[in-house]
Amino acid sequence: MLDKDQTQKPWDSLWFNARVATMVAGDKPYGLIDHGAIGIIDEKIVWVGETSQVPKEQLALCQNQMDCMSALATPGLIDCHTHIVYGGERIDEFEMRLNGASYSEISKAGGGIASTVSATRLSTEDALFDSAKQRINSFLNEGVTTIEIKSGYGLDLETELKMLRVARRLGRELSLDVSTSFLGAHAIPAEFKNRSDDYIDYICRDVLPLVAADNLADSVDAFCEDIAFSAQQIERVFRCAVSHGLSLKLHAEQLSDQKGAVMAAEMGALSVDHIEYLAEDDVAVIKRNDTVAVLLPGAFYFLGETKLPPVAALRSQGVSIAISSDANPGSSPVSSLLLMLNMACTLFKLTPEESLAGVTRNAAKALGLASEVGTLEVGKLANMVLWSLENPAELSYRIGHNPCQKVMYRGKVR
Ligand code: NIG
Ligand code: FE
Repeated sequence: MLDKDQTQKPWDSLWFNARVATMVAGDKPYGLIDHGAIGIIDEKIVWVGETSQVPKEQLALCQNQMDCMSALATPGLIDCHTHIVYGGERIDEFEMRLNGASYSEISKAGGGIASTVSATRLSTEDALFDSAKQRINSFLNEGVTTIEIKSGYGLDLETELKMLRVARRLGRELSLDVSTSFLGAHAIPAEFKNRSDDYIDYICRDVLPLVAADNLADSVDAFCEDIAFSAQQIERVFRCAVSHGLSLKLHAEQLSDQKGAVMAAEMGALSVDHIEYLAEDDVAVIKRNDTVAVLLPGAFYFLGETKLPPVAALRSQGVSIAISSDANPGSSPVSSLLLMLNMACTLFKLTPEESLAGVTRNAAKALGLASEVGTLEVGKLANMVLWSLENPAELSYRIGHNPCQKVMYRGKVR
């Protein structure tokens, strides 16, 4: 564990006497080190091990030493699927659904995503920034250090670029890392009604190249559903994305089995998300391509879905499972990633360890960031959280409780 080059140079910070849940996959649950210590230089972790093994010279040299008093340390949390930049809210639709309308019916009647599109087009860039910043604050308070943000409420060149610029600015101005996804193929905008193929052409020809040229997106996402786009249409968008060097992600099998997840996995997608309707027989394809299965218990819960994702098959075949908030105004108005840990356990029967891996190691993988974040290991960014508790399962156990004590983001206490 000792990085030899770093034994001489004084560490900038040392956290010691922590229960360190490294979340490194292996024999020990949570990759736990009971009396652990972590040494940091600049933005990175340079040493992880037992407190009793910390090199003596560092005890003399390191200026910032913190006794964690047996509190739990974990990697900074990662929310790998959000639509947190948007205009307006959809409280009226919540009422409509409780009066009997379904999510698909509302969408077909011109509500749903389309109503957020209208509000987002009308919002200024500053207003979008300010409202998203407020929402993100709840996530920061819970120890989130990386968040993914999608576009997809613009559905025209100007607004898609606007959303992605806001997402990039959030990453520059707040103390967390933002990964962005271009979700132009989220819904068919009114201007292209009954011309979904033309809209796909428009995305590929007029929007995606500019998104890529301005480096506004890390990935390209899409919504594969009968109220959105077919697997074939999305394949065209994905080919275009790959030609611009962008990673792929997909909203797949959320409301029905469209075979989108198989298409995406075979094209090398980082993740397939939702997947309640994924056929058990298709899990092998997800595994073979090392695609992450991202489960979104907030949307499952809020839409009153009853079809469960094929968790047992994902688990038995060793697919990496991530958990995320899907924060958005229509299907998951969620402000808490910790609540998602609890719901992943209670609704999807994940274990607390699987849930925590879902917002750390596997969420990093779902964003293509596994070499930088997601575990507490030498060489990774010093993004970590100290919690006022000892047992990591408690993060999944409590409901509506936030035991976050301290957050370190890129080597600095936030
Ligand atoms: O992840 N499924 C599509 N997209 C979002 C919902 C967006 C909305 O309803 O505004 C989701 O659930
Ligand atoms: Fe989503």
